[in-house]
Amino acid sequence: MPLPSYPFAGKRYWFPEATPAPPAGQAAHRRRTHTVGLDDAVVRDHVVRGQPVLPGVAVLDLVRGAAAGELGAVTALTDVRWHAPVTVDAKTTTVHIGLERRGDGLAFVVSDDAGTVHATGTALAGPAGAPPDLDLAAILERCRTPVDVHELYHRAEASGLRYGATFRRLASVRRGADEAIATIDAADPADANWLPVGPVDAALQVLRALGEGELLLPASVGRIDLLDRPVGRLVAHGRLREVDPRRGSARADVIVADERGRVAVAFHDFHAVRPRPVGYLRSAWRLAPPVEPAVPQGPALVLTGPGDGGLAAALLDRHPGGGRIVDVAAARPTEAGYRDLLSELRPATVYLLTGVDELRYGASDLAHLETAQEIGVVALFRVVRALLAGDRTPIRVVVVTSGAQQIDDRRPAPNPFAAAQIGLARVAARELRFAEISCLDLDPDELGRPDLTRLVAGHRPADDVEVALRGGHRLVRQLHPALLPPDDPDRAPWRHGGVYLLVGGGGGLGAQVGGLLARRYAANLVVVGRRQAEAVEPALAALRRAGAQVMYQRADVTDPVAMGEVVRAARQRFGRLNGAVHAAFTLADRTLSTMDEDGLRAALSAKLRGSAVLHQVLADEPLDIVAYFSSAVALTAPAGQANYAAASTFQDAFARHVGARYRVPVKVYNWGYWGRPDRWPVRSTRSGWPASVCGRSRHSTGSGPSKRSPRHR
Ligand SMILES: NC(=O)c1ccc[n+]([C@@H]2O[C@H](COP(=O)([O-])OP(=O)(O)OC[C@H]3O[C@@H](n4cnc5c(N)ncnc54)[C@H](OP(=O)(O)O)[C@@H]3O)[C@@H](O)[C@H]2O)c1
Repeated sequence: MPLPSYPFAGKRYWFPEATPAPPAGQAAHRRRTHTVGLDDAVVRDHVVRGQPVLPGVAVLDLVRGAAAGELGAVTALTDVRWHAPVTVDAKTTTVHIGLERRGDGLAFVVSDDAGTVHATGTALAGPAGAPPDLDLAAILERCRTPVDVHELYHRAEASGLRYGATFRRLASVRRGADEAIATIDAADPADANWLPVGPVDAALQVLRALGEGELLLPASVGRIDLLDRPVGRLVAHGRLREVDPRRGSARADVIVADERGRVAVAFHDFHAVRPRPVGYLRSAWRLAPPVEPAVPQGPALVLTGPGDGGLAAALLDRHPGGGRIVDVAAARPTEAGYRDLLSELRPATVYLLTGVDELRYGASDLAHLETAQEIGVVALFRVVRALLAGDRTPIRVVVVTSGAQQIDDRRPAPNPFAAAQIGLARVAARELRFAEISCLDLDPDELGRPDLTRLVAGHRPADDVEVALRGGHRLVRQLHPALLPPDDPDRAPWRHGGVYLLVGGGGGLGAQVGGLLARRYAANLVVVGRRQAEAVEPALAALRRAGAQVMYQRADVTDPVAMGEVVRAARQRFGRLNGAVHAAFTLADRTLSTMDEDGLRAALSAKLRGSAVLHQVLADEPLDIVAYFSSAVALTAPAGQANYAAASTFQDAFARHVGARYRVPVKVYNWGYWGRPDRWPVRSTRSGWPASVCGRSRHSTGSGPSKRSPRHR
């Protein structure tokens, strides 16, 4: 292939393509892989809210090309949904197109390396109908108002969508009552794509002439007829079907034709939506470049439990200064005990291996949870406190777990009980400036790997505090901007007249979601809390006023007997349960230097034991949803919130574990800070809730989306 001879040659080159052979026995499934990068003009020239994004039309062209390789010719794409933008935040991003035979066509799924699904739909190869040509004269007669194209691009930029030259192709635009027509500059002759991305994207821009300049992004298209490759100068005709300015959504048909009106591509029921007013983030595990393991120095203190598979002894062997192994499960050292150990041994490295476990436990095993908490997060807390009380010389602390991090949504991580120490360690890494604290999660099936000890002993955290080792590869957890799908009550997991258990429903967020369920779904609510009913009466009365039948049950979510009674009472009163929300927690923000152990346990209990108890008492209920209200703190780990971060990383891991292992319909909401409760009712124009609660919530490789926020609760 000839290469560009100098940087400004202007000739575009499409994405390099690779088509790996399908694994044997999977002939019905095909996968094509493309690499897109910041050097590609279609990415560089398409910046949404400061983030280069592969345009939806480019995704369509990749899909069409991949499907054409299987079907010969693709005449239509149907039920196309863009679930999440393909943001290109590294130099390159890999996009996979999975294809599977579905009747006469191919179902497609566009995803990335982290498993995030970006688009889905179906490609068809049947004979294409011949639509009538556009009656250009009649359209022009109806569209008499000229639209200033420069102003249109200026407004797009002001709304957060910056188009570069590749996409600034609207030559002239005129509008009528609910339709507009545009002429579009031809594609670069070197553009060999079947769907020339710049011009076809510009064709959809015709709808901008009919809007108020608000940023609307593509969400779905009912059907795209691919009749002829659009070449030369084009005409685009857009006609609105429906506009909802309140919800920020528009539906339209857009026809792309040649200058004589002959139709090339027709978008039927193209749906664009306003992105959420707040930013959302999703967490994803990414493959990190390999790092040469460090050579261990000085003595080591290895704190271990019953199931480390020999790792403790092997690690100690690697330390030239020797050291000591302490069986935390047997010895249960106190904070003073750790102080003595540290001052006697003066280790260069402390390993905490109590989260490494070869055994599997049931999610309702409260006795194991208790042990895991004591030898895990509580032991780490004591170590950290002992370090704070010492002379604060530099030290390395490696918190090793196995199977606590769920890298793959389909494979339950077997050991969520060890996840609490990850949250605490991450906050400690911020608060203890003299210590290099990192977390490393191993695959429990790989504990016998010959190179494991070398990788653990030489683990260097750099900036990636949370690292998982899988198959000898380093994976790091990162946050990425995400767009939520449109709010769609019909796809929500809540049903009209449903019966919902609201644990913590007398508190701030619990009462808000209860109010929403009452108003929108005429729900029956079973509110649970530890206080007397009178203390929560104002909140209960508000729920009744909102239309709910409300039953208050005084119970502690950590008490399995009391919670069993709650479920029985709910069934007796309403005949069934359709879902549950776990919104119980205790806020007790402190730095680790001012936190005491009772405070730590109090902050952990509702989310640790409370989550396990809720799972236990609901095990036999056929529920539509179990919503865990976790916090963005699980992902951001801010200083001063170590107990909360520990509780939240546990809750996330636990919820995802029961979702994957027991097929519980779990949703995890990593909320950001909601602000002052007295201001909550004015936070949203509609329900007081982001749509993700009442509509379908999205899940990425991490938990549900987190609301981006400067502060957290
Ligand atoms: N508010 C925010 O900005 C924010 C941000 C991120 C995440 N979240 C999450 O959202 C959830 C709710 O937060 P919130 O701000 O609404 O909290 P909140 O106002 O403090 O309410 C918490 C509720 O939990 C109940 N509770 C606590 N421990 C319990 C136990 N052991 N058993 C039964 N009920 C218990 C409390 O009632 P009793 O005292 O009567 O038991 C209280 O009504 C939490 O999970 C939190 O992590 C909130």
